[in-house]
Amino acid sequence: MSASTPQVDLGGGVAIPQLGFGVFQIPADRTQAAVEAALEAGYRHIDTAAAYTNEAAVGAAIRASGITREELFVTTKLRNGDQGRGSARRAFEASRAALGLDVVDLYLVHWPSPARDLYRESWTDLEDVLGEGGVRAIGVSNFLIPHLERLLASARVVPAVDQLEIHPTFQQREVVAFCRREGIAVEAYSPLGQGADLESPVVTGIAATHGATPAQVVLARHLALGHIVIPKTERPERMRENLGALELALTPDEVDRMSGLDAGNRIGGDPDTFEISQIR
Ligand SMILES: NC(=O)c1ccc[n+]([C@@H]2O[C@H](COP(=O)([O-])OP(=O)(O)OC[C@H]3O[C@@H](n4cnc5c(N)ncnc54)[C@H](OP(=O)(O)O)[C@@H]3O)[C@@H](O)[C@H]2O)c1
Repeated sequence: MSASTPQVDLGGGVAIPQLGFGVFQIPADRTQAAVEAALEAGYRHIDTAAAYTNEAAVGAAIRASGITREELFVTTKLRNGDQGRGSARRAFEASRAALGLDVVDLYLVHWPSPARDLYRESWTDLEDVLGEGGVRAIGVSNFLIPHLERLLASARVVPAVDQLEIHPTFQQREVVAFCRREGIAVEAYSPLGQGADLESPVVTGIAATHGATPAQVVLARHLALGHIVIPKTERPERMRENLGALELALTPDEVDRMSGLDAGNRIGGDPDTFEISQIR
């Protein structure tokens, strides 16, 4: 299955599998089993974060899988409480050690945390780590246009990725368009709306037409729009179901009909105000 997963070019010779596996809200003591099952199902891209407190379990699953390092793509993220010059680098080293990896594929600033006003300093640390080869690509998450504009004004390296909450009822079209213009790849988190978007009659109707499931239809829309996408599930049968989105070709009209579902239905934090330190 992994062989048929399209890759998105992040520049600098780095490519990310377009469909990956997210581990937010999987408890640390269940994460190794979940990631082992995901790798067995065919996922080769795992999305974690220091704040999820399950990086070590992700690393353990990777080692247990026997899959060669070159076949895998691992993302982790800098938590808010570690932002700042020097502290971001130390946090990166802690994440790399927890994962047990020599090189991390993608490291993201998890939130802009405007009240801290440290994302530019943090970014300088990430640029340094990139230059030293500790990470293959660096990016951001939850950055809206004002945060991106301010970062770009001083950055030496343009973020490879902005990982944003995007699903049919929360599409963030303006920041997506900005990212496209600036050459920043768009990664959709909570791509299923944490399950909330799967009951829409538009989605279930398209699913019935194709003999597919609502989750496959929503994920296929993300893929058609060029988003990198990282659904989470602890259930192996859903892991396989979600990978099945790779086989589903939607018509442009079906994609458009789901675009009509945008309703400002944010599930996660508001990037302008989400300031939790993320350190427990
Ligand atoms: N950067 C950020 O700030 C941020 C924030 C949130 C998430 N993320 C990343 O994005 C990943 C995914 O987001 P998410 O976990 O918030 O939401 P999601 O992937 O949209 O939805 C996950 C929920 O949907 C259910 N589900 C999964 N596949 C399904 C299927 N085929 N049919 C029906 N239900 C299904 C899961 O339940 P079961 O587990 O019971 O199957 C779970 O409750 C995270 O794991 C994380 O890596 C990043």
